[in-house]
Amino acid sequence: MTTVTTGTRAVKGAVGTAHTRVEGRDKVTGAARYAGEIPFAELAHGWLVLSTVARGRVRSVDTALVLGMPGVLSVLHHENAPRVETDYPGLLGSAPDPTVAVFQHDRVPHMGWPVALVVAETSEQAREAAEALVVQYEEEPHDVDFYAGHPDAYAAEGHMPGVTAKGDLEAELAASAVVVDERYTTPEEHHNSMEPHAATARWDGGRLEVVDSNQGTTWVAGELANLFSLDPASVWVRSEHVGGGFGSKGVRPHQVAAVMAATVLQRPVRVVMTRRQMFSLAGYRSPTTQQVRLGADADGRLRALDHSSLSLTSTVHEFIEPSAGVARVMYDADAHHTANRVVRLDVPTPTWMRGPGEAPGSFAIESALDELAEKCGLDPIELRVRNEPEVGPVSGLPFSGRNLVACFRKGAGRFGWADRDPRPGLRRDGRWLLGTGTAAASFPAGAAPSTAAITAEADGTFTVRINAADIGTGARTALTLIAADALEVAPDHIRVRLGDSDLGPAMIAGGSMGTRSWAWALTAAAGDLRERIALSDGIPPEGITARSNTTEAIGALAPKERHSFGAQFAEVAVDVTTGEVRVRRMLGVFAAGRIVNPLTARNQFVGGMTWGISMALHEEAVRDHRTGGHYGADLAGYHVAAHADVPHIEADWVDDPDPDDPVGIKGIGEVGIVGAAAAIANAVWHATGVRHRNLPIRPDRVL
Ligand code: MOS
Repeated sequence: MTTVTTGTRAVKGAVGTAHTRVEGRDKVTGAARYAGEIPFAELAHGWLVLSTVARGRVRSVDTALVLGMPGVLSVLHHENAPRVETDYPGLLGSAPDPTVAVFQHDRVPHMGWPVALVVAETSEQAREAAEALVVQYEEEPHDVDFYAGHPDAYAAEGHMPGVTAKGDLEAELAASAVVVDERYTTPEEHHNSMEPHAATARWDGGRLEVVDSNQGTTWVAGELANLFSLDPASVWVRSEHVGGGFGSKGVRPHQVAAVMAATVLQRPVRVVMTRRQMFSLAGYRSPTTQQVRLGADADGRLRALDHSSLSLTSTVHEFIEPSAGVARVMYDADAHHTANRVVRLDVPTPTWMRGPGEAPGSFAIESALDELAEKCGLDPIELRVRNEPEVGPVSGLPFSGRNLVACFRKGAGRFGWADRDPRPGLRRDGRWLLGTGTAAASFPAGAAPSTAAITAEADGTFTVRINAADIGTGARTALTLIAADALEVAPDHIRVRLGDSDLGPAMIAGGSMGTRSWAWALTAAAGDLRERIALSDGIPPEGITARSNTTEAIGALAPKERHSFGAQFAEVAVDVTTGEVRVRRMLGVFAAGRIVNPLTARNQFVGGMTWGISMALHEEAVRDHRTGGHYGADLAGYHVAAHADVPHIEADWVDDPDPDDPVGIKGIGEVGIVGAAAAIANAVWHATGVRHRNLPIRPDRVL
C-alpha cells in the first residue's frame, strides 16, 4: 500500500498556464509513429484504383493481367468484394455517406470514385499493378457545373433548418435608407492534412483490429461495425497520433477497402491515400455562391437581413455547407431571412471542413457589413456594435456568453484601429497600396456525451483513459492539464491514454467540441475518484479506478445560444503593378471560453487565421467541366499558404469562461478561420477602393 498523495502534493492552476505538448519530444524525434508507419507482421498493401470517368458504369475490370504481376495477391472490385450494410443511422443520427460503401455496384457517380483495390506484397508492387489495371466504362454525360441560380437547387433540410424567415423582407428593404445587395462566392477548397489518410486492418482471433488516422475511433469503429454487421465489441480501432484532419478524417473508403482485403486474404492489409487521391476521397468544402441583402436606417441599424447560400453535393449523399447559418447568430433585423440551398452534381460528396458553414458564410456576411459601413459612413466596428443582438436573432434564446464587443475593443486597441482613415486607396508604400480591415467571427460551442476512466496508481500517479483524439491540436496536453487540476496534482503525475476505441465512447475531435466534451467527462471522473481515495486506506496495487459518463449532465443543459466569438483584423499591401496581395499583419481576439493551454490555443487560433489567409488569397480547386476532374489536384496546383505568405500573426483572447461548463471551456478549433478571409478582403478594399466578392483574391482579379 502506498500513501495517498492527492492533496499533499497539490499543485493548482495547471489550466491556463503554457505547457508544451506532452508528446512533443516523441513527435520531433520520430518516436511517435503515425498510422501508415506502424509495423505489422505479414503486412500486405492495397492500392486504390479510381475511376477515370465522371459518370457511368464499370463495364469490366480486367484482372487477369495484373494478377500475374509480381507480388500481386488480389484485386477487389464490385463483382467480388465483400458486401456491406448501409441502411443504419450513422453519427449523430445522420445516414452514412454511401461513398464509403465501396465496390458494391457498378455505378460511377463521380471522377475519382474507387473502382478497385489491388493488393500486393509491397506498396510499390500494388501501385504498379493498380496503374496497369484496365477498367472499361460505359460513359454517361455528366454535370459538374456549379453556379448561382442552378435550376436543380433545392432548400436543404439537413442537421439544421434550411430556411429561416421572420418579418417582411421586401417592405423593410423598401423602407431602408441604405441597401447592400451583392453576391459573394467561395471556391471548392480541400483539407489537405499533412498526413494522408492511412489504415491497416487485420483479423485477430475473431476481432477486427484497425490502426488508422482519424478524428475519433468511437466514430470509425461504430461505422465499421455497422458496415460489416459486426458486434461493436469485436471492432478495435486505434489512432494514436494524427497529422491533421480538419473534418476529413472520419470514415473514408480506405478503411473499408482495407477491412475487405484483410477479410478476403486473412492477412493485415494497409491502404494509404496518395495526396492526389485525397482530392476525390477525403471530402472537401463545397464551393458557395451567396446572395446577401442588407437594409439599414441611416444610423446603420439593420431593418433587413437576407442571406441565401447555395452549395453543392454529390448524387449519392446530401451534405450541406450551411453558410447562411452564421447570420442566425450574429445580427438581428426586423426582417431576417436565411436559406441554405444545395444542388446535386456528379462530384464527390463534400464534408465538414474547418469552420463548416461559418468559414464561407462569414466571408459573405462580414464583407457585406463592411460595404454597409462604407455606405452609412460608419466605422465598421461601430456598425457591428450598433447591431449587437440581445438574444439569438432567430432562436430568441439567451447567449451563454457573447463578449464580441469586448473582442473588438481589445483588438482595436492592440491593432491601432483608432488612427485609421476610413477612406480607401490613400495609403502608399512605394509600389504597394496599404489598407486595413476587420470582421467578426463566431462558431458554435457545444458539448457531447463522453465516458472517461481515471486510475489512481499505487505509485502516486494517475492514468486517464478517454477515447479522445489528438489530431495535432494539443488535446493530449490540454487533457493532462485539466486532469491535473481536477485531481490537484502536478501535470507530470498524469498520463493520458487516448485514440483507442477500447477506452469507451467519447466525442470526436470535431465541431470545436472535443476538449470541452472530454474535459467534462474527466472532471466528473476525477471528482468521483477523489471521493473514493478519501474513503480508502491507501491505493491497492491494482489502483483505484473511477468512471464517468456525461450523457445525463449534457442532456440537462438548458437551451441557449452557445458560441465562441472573435474579432479579426488584417493589414494588407497590394502591388499596384502585379496585383499581388500580401498580408502584412493579422490580429485575432477571441472570446472562446476558458483557455486551457495558452501555448497550444494560440497555435489553434493562428492556424485558423493562417488558413484564412490561404482562403482569401490562394486556395481554389478548379474542376474541368469536360472531364469532371480537377486541374492540378496536388500541392503544386492547389496553393496552400506557405511560410512566405504568412506574416506576423497575433492571437489574443478576452476572459470568457462558459458559465455552464465545469471547466469554463467553449471551443477554439474552428473560430480562428471564421471572418479571417473577410477581414483580408475588407483590407484589400481599404487599400485599393475595389471590392473583391469572389475568393480567392488572385492577382489577375485584383487589377
Ligand atoms: Mo471539424 S470541420 O468539425 O473537424
